[in-house]
Amino acid sequence: MTKRIAIILLAALPVACSAPSDRKTDAEMDRFVSGLMSQMTLEEKAGQINLVTWDRSLIVDKPAREDASPESMKQLGQVEQTGAQQSTGVAAKIEKGAVGGIFNVGSLEERIRIQEFTMDHSRLGIPMMFGLDVIHGHRTTFPIPLALSSSWDMELIERTAMAAADEASSEGLDWVYSPMVDIVRDPRWGRVAESAGEDAWLGSRVAEAMVRGLQQGDIAQPQTVMACVKHFALYGAAEGGRDYDVADMSLMRMYNEYLPPYRAAVDAGAGSMMSSFNDVNGVPATANRWLLTDLLRDEWGFDGFVVSDYTSVGELVGHGIGDMKTVSARALKAGLDMDMVSEGLYSNLDAALKEGFVTEADIDKACRRILEAKYRLGLFKDPFLRMKRGVTERSKYQELALEAARKTMVLLKNDNNLLPLSPDTRIALVGPLANARFDLKGTWAGYGYTDEVVTIKEGMEKYVPGIRYALGSRITENPDMSKMIGYNPARYDQKRLVAEAVALARASDVVVAVVGESSKMSGESASLQELDLQKPQRELLEALEKTGKPVVLVLVNGRPLTLEWENEHCDAILEAWDPGTRGGDAVADVLFGEYNPSGRLTMTFPKKVGQIPLYYGMKSSGRPYIPFRKYRLGYIDYTIDPLYPFGYGLSYGTVAYSDIRAEKCSGSDAVARVSVTLVNESDRELVETPQLYIKDPVASVTRPMKQLKGFRRVSLAPKESETVTFDVTRDDLMFYDDKLNYIYEPGEFVFEVGCNAENTVSVSLNL
Ligand code: NOJ
Repeated sequence: MTKRIAIILLAALPVACSAPSDRKTDAEMDRFVSGLMSQMTLEEKAGQINLVTWDRSLIVDKPAREDASPESMKQLGQVEQTGAQQSTGVAAKIEKGAVGGIFNVGSLEERIRIQEFTMDHSRLGIPMMFGLDVIHGHRTTFPIPLALSSSWDMELIERTAMAAADEASSEGLDWVYSPMVDIVRDPRWGRVAESAGEDAWLGSRVAEAMVRGLQQGDIAQPQTVMACVKHFALYGAAEGGRDYDVADMSLMRMYNEYLPPYRAAVDAGAGSMMSSFNDVNGVPATANRWLLTDLLRDEWGFDGFVVSDYTSVGELVGHGIGDMKTVSARALKAGLDMDMVSEGLYSNLDAALKEGFVTEADIDKACRRILEAKYRLGLFKDPFLRMKRGVTERSKYQELALEAARKTMVLLKNDNNLLPLSPDTRIALVGPLANARFDLKGTWAGYGYTDEVVTIKEGMEKYVPGIRYALGSRITENPDMSKMIGYNPARYDQKRLVAEAVALARASDVVVAVVGESSKMSGESASLQELDLQKPQRELLEALEKTGKPVVLVLVNGRPLTLEWENEHCDAILEAWDPGTRGGDAVADVLFGEYNPSGRLTMTFPKKVGQIPLYYGMKSSGRPYIPFRKYRLGYIDYTIDPLYPFGYGLSYGTVAYSDIRAEKCSGSDAVARVSVTLVNESDRELVETPQLYIKDPVASVTRPMKQLKGFRRVSLAPKESETVTFDVTRDDLMFYDDKLNYIYEPGEFVFEVGCNAENTVSVSLNL
C-alpha cells in the first residue's frame, strides 16, 4: 500500500487531517487513534512500540547541509551509540510496519528519506517519530546542564531549551531525550554533568523550565519537540557513583528528595519518560509496575508514554529476573510502552501471547500511547511537519550561547581581588584546555558544530592580541583512563611542556592556567573513583606556583572536583564547566571584568572523595557533628566540611545580608512572608542570588537540616540596597512521612536567607 492510499484511509476517519494537540481535543484524538488501530494487525501494533537506532540501510547521497563544514559533515553520519547492541535491517523492518521510532539518524536528509520510505512502503503509512539526545543544545552547544543549573536563571534555561528545540525540530527531530532530572549527590558519577545537581526543589524548577522550553505548551507546533524526562527513577543515586549500579533508598527519602523533579516535569506536561537502568526498591525500573503504573500514572496522572533506556529491556535478563520472553512481557505489563533497541517486546510477542504472558490489550495500550504521541506531535496531520520548516540559520543562537556561558560560570576564589585582570597585564596562558575546542562542548554534544566553538585562547586574544600561550601538561597519564577516553599521553613530552609553561610564567605578571577534564571524562560511563586533578595537571600547577607568580585557575570540567590543594595554592579560581560554543568568549569576559560573575553552585564540592556523599540537606542526627569529637557524627581523620557549599559563588564585590524578618500571612496562598535586606557594598554592579532555606526543627520524622525553598536573582547597582521578600506556601512546609502521607505539621519553622547554604541569617516563626 502506498502513502496515498494510507492517507485516504486515514482521511476516511472522522478527524484525520485537522488534529491540533491540546488536551481539549482528546476525544477527537481517541476517535482517530481507535480508528487507526482498528486497521492494524497485531504485528503492526507491536511495531509501533519498537524503537531502533538507524543503521543507514537507506542510502542518502544528497549533501547534508550546504553550509556544513567538512568536520560537521563527518559528524552527521557518525553518532556515538551508547550501548553494544545496534539495530539492523531497519529499512526492511519499516516496510513491514515493525518500527515506531528511530533515533541517531545523522541528518535531515536522511530523516526525510526515511519518512518518505515509511509513507510509501509501509502498509498503513504511519509516520515515523524521530528521536535524539539533545541535552544542552543541538547545533549550538550551551553549557552542560550542571552548568546551566548554576545560573539559577530559569528563564535562561527555558530559552536554551527553546533554542535547542528550534534547531532540532528544524532538522526533522520530533522528540529529544531531555531533560535529565536525576538528583545526584555523588560527583564520582560522570552523569552529574547532565544533572541539575543535588537539590530536589531547585531540580524541579529546572525540570519545569526545560519542559516548557522544549514543548512550549503545544507539541503540534513545528518549532517544538516532545520532551523525554529521564531517567525514571533514581538513576543518580547509583551506589559508589558507579554508572549502572544499584540505587537503593527508603521510600520516604525517595518521595521527599529524589522524586520531586520527575513529578514536576510530569506536571509541566512532559510527553514522555524514560525508564532508568537501575532497580527501584528491588525491581528494575524498566519492569517496575509500582513505578511505571501505580506511581507514574495512577498517582501522578501521567498520560504520555514510557520508553526504556538503551537495551534496558534486554538487560532485565542480566538483572536476573527471567529470560528475554519473560522480561519483555513483564516490562510491557509493568507499563513500559516502547522498547529502545532490545526489540524484546517486538520479537517475543507471538510466543508471549500464545503462552499467556501478555494479552492483546497490553499491546494495544502501549501502541495507543505511541500513536497518541504522534498525534499530539502533529505527525498525522503532516508527517513532514518539522522537516519542511527550514533549517535554523547557524548564527541564530550565538548571543544566547554567550549569555548562558557567562551566567553559568562560578567564581570560587579571588584573593586580593586578583580578578578582574587588566588587558595590560603580562599574561601567561597555559594548560591543556586553554586552547581546546572539542572539549569545551562537554558531554552529549555530538551534533554541536565544533568549528563554531570559541576556545579560551581565542576569547582572551580579543582582549590581548597575540596572548602568549603554552600547552603546559598532558590531560592525564592514567593508562586505563586514557584508553577509555581515547587519549594518547605518549604524544606529549610532559617535562618539556611544564618547562615551557614555567618559562612563560617567569616572563609574565600573572598566570592563567586552564585545567580540568576533557569532555569524555564526564557524562555517561565516565565514573571516577578519585576527583583530584589528574597528576600531570597538578604537576604543572605545582611548578607554576614555584615561580611565585599569581595563578588564576580556570576549570573546564563536568563535575565537582576535589580542589583542596588548588584552593590553598592558587590565587583565584573560576569554575567555567564545559561552557559550550561561546565558552572562550565568556571566560575572557569574566576574567577581564566585562561580565561580573554570578553563577552559584548547585552541588557541594567536597574536600576529599572520602566525604562523599556530602550535601547541604543532611538529616539531623542525635549526635550532631562536632569536628574531631569522639562519639559524634564525623571522622576521626578529617572534617565533614565541604570545600565550597551548595549555593556558593563569588562576584566582583560583596553583598551584606541583614534585617531578616518573618511574618504570618493570611488570605493568600502564602502562610508566611520572609524578608531580608541586601546591600551591595562594592562599586560595581552585580547580580546576587539570595537563597531561602527552611528548617523544621521538630517533626514526627527526621527532616533535613535545611531545604531550599526559594531564591531570587537580584541586580544591584553600586552601593544599592534592596529588600527582598519570599512568600512561603503551606506546600513549602509539607513533606512525606514514613507512611508516605503528605503532611503539614504546625509548629516552629526556621527561615534562613543567605548567599549560600552555609552563610545565612535566620529567623523563626510558629506556623
Ligand atoms: C543511554 C542513556 O542512558 C540515555 O540517557 C540516552 O538517552 C540513551 N542512551 C539514548 O542515547
